[in-house]
Amino acid sequence: MDVRPSRTRPPSESALPFRGTSSDDLDRRQRRGVSRLNRPADVATTTSIPLLSERQKRERDFYREYARRHTDEDVDFDPVLGREQRPWNPYWAHFQVVRSLFTNSRQRLLDFGCGAGTASMCYAKVGYRVHGFDICDDNVSSCYGKAERYGFGERVEFSVQVAESLEYPSRHFDVVAGIDILHHVDIAAAIREVHRVLKPAGVAVFREFVEVPVFDALRASWLVTRFYPKGASFGHHRTHDERKLDADDLGMIRSVFPRCEITRFNLLQRFRKLWPIASSNGPSTLEKIDQRIFRIAPVLQRFGGDVLMVLRKE
Ligand SMILES: C[S@@+](CC[C@H](N)C(=O)[O-])C[C@H]1O[C@@H](n2cnc3c(N)ncnc32)[C@H](O)[C@@H]1O
Repeated sequence: MDVRPSRTRPPSESALPFRGTSSDDLDRRQRRGVSRLNRPADVATTTSIPLLSERQKRERDFYREYARRHTDEDVDFDPVLGREQRPWNPYWAHFQVVRSLFTNSRQRLLDFGCGAGTASMCYAKVGYRVHGFDICDDNVSSCYGKAERYGFGERVEFSVQVAESLEYPSRHFDVVAGIDILHHVDIAAAIREVHRVLKPAGVAVFREFVEVPVFDALRASWLVTRFYPKGASFGHHRTHDERKLDADDLGMIRSVFPRCEITRFNLLQRFRKLWPIASSNGPSTLEKIDQRIFRIAPVLQRFGGDVLMVLRKE
């Protein structure tokens, strides 16, 4: 497949209907109910995109601006090369699980909320046929750029879609993988979609942030927010609406996927900026200590602020 250049702005607006248009233009297009996948012009495909909620529009607009402010970075393939493993780090652990699920190059993996495509490239490197979607057209554009740059054009397919209402057929994917995405969306609707698009016996793997007792209450307190405000911030990569998963969300996920394994990370690691040993020896020191603490005292796992969820469809 011919992929569109990405690191530069595309030459023609007609090849990319969302780009360069105002939110109003896009919303008008959505009211007509028809939009076009952000794919190369020669494979233009029409698809319907539902009206975006105010929250979805805010997310899309935030990430358009975020994409504008950040240059496309090189992809670090180390987490999938298998030369090293870091089971104490949720990002590396995520890729370790995704690698372990790979059996053959016909397997289809959905990168759920693919962002600018870094993880998609890693999944393609493992050997999957990768499909990815994101609400932000500029991110989808970056994904195609990376695919071209790293030579994965034949094995990837990206589109602008919303997590709560996907256009993929049911029982389509062997694996669904998502990094830092569920806390940006309507979690219940998204999880139903994950279940729908997975094949029977398919597996979903999500790395997410979760609320923990005490820490998050303190963080939300008047005194702390006075010094460390909580609103949207490009510097802190935080959107207006993002919200860590809470106990109710985890319960809902378990009700949809009764076969759900959750591994916790990030206990002392959250204080890495305060602890000199973290900066001198690298962040893994604290992550390794966290893993040991969780093994010795599992009761403390509820204070781990990052999770890796492995959800198996029956
Ligand atoms: C924190 S980023 C994570 C992106 C990617 N998974 C990664 O690890 O780089 C969150 C992503 O969610 C996307 N997003 C937010 N709301 C969405 C929605 N309702 N449907 C699809 N994507 C959404 C944003 O555009 C953004 O790319």
